[in-house]
Amino acid sequence: MIGYADLSVLLTTRHFGRKVVFLPCVGSTNDVARDLARRGAAEGTVVLADEQTSGRGRMGRRWLAPRCSSILCSLIFRPSCPPEQFSLLTMLCSLAAADAIEQQTGLRVALKWPNDLIICSSLESGWRKLAGVLTEADVFSERPAFVIVGIGINVNIFPRDLPALAPDATSIFAETGRWTDRTHLVAAFLTEVERRYELLKTGHSPFAEWQARLATLGNPVQATLAGEVLTGVAEGVTEDGALLLRTPAGTLHRLLAADVTLAPPAGVQADGQGHCLVGR
Ligand code: BTN
Repeated sequence: MIGYADLSVLLTTRHFGRKVVFLPCVGSTNDVARDLARRGAAEGTVVLADEQTSGRGRMGRRWLAPRCSSILCSLIFRPSCPPEQFSLLTMLCSLAAADAIEQQTGLRVALKWPNDLIICSSLESGWRKLAGVLTEADVFSERPAFVIVGIGINVNIFPRDLPALAPDATSIFAETGRWTDRTHLVAAFLTEVERRYELLKTGHSPFAEWQARLATLGNPVQATLAGEVLTGVAEGVTEDGALLLRTPAGTLHRLLAADVTLAPPAGVQADGQGHCLVGR
């Protein structure tokens, strides 16, 4: 097994991962990346940690992971696109992580709006969350100075430790029964990020691929935002990453941020390869 110190040996990227800041224990890798970016760190700079004491999730939640068990990683982007298009970076990184996990583990990974990587394993267990993405931007007069995309991937976490992290959490170890080398997985992730980012810069949006991979679409969902609960069908997504939810009364809601729960597991079918079949 190799460690993060050997990451450069595995990388063929030109930008992403060429500068890596590895810290055994940090508050949040997103905070470290933001501070580095404010001090001028280059696009493609990567922050990795073995442990976070104040890991953040979306909507003010904590992101918990036992020490050395997971990928806790933040990337610095300096895109030329306007803030309305930052969600493309989130889509791109979600797809890159899903592909890297599939390549390294053989698992089939789906996406759950807006930023979750999930495993749809069986009729009984429905879906479980494997990873999450948190994008934070520093915007100066419309032109972004930088965007930080943070990702947490549950890698070598024992099943018995998962309930303490989140009720719907899973890990690569729990799904495969095998230990996965984090350094190889990070290398595969950064390779995919760079490939997709180069495509984006030449005008190829990740939107269609992201949309196609969303297990949420066409399914009954429950969305919670600011304490309000909306139920309906996830009818579609828009290029800026919003979810279109149609309520039984016929109203179409455009949600930019919310917690979305897929249909109750009883309504979910899976094909055993990680694809949710409801409504597809
Ligand atoms: C979510 O699903 O709510 C997003 C989780 C994002 C967690 C990662 S771990 C690395 C980076 N640093 C943080 O504090 N958060 C992100």
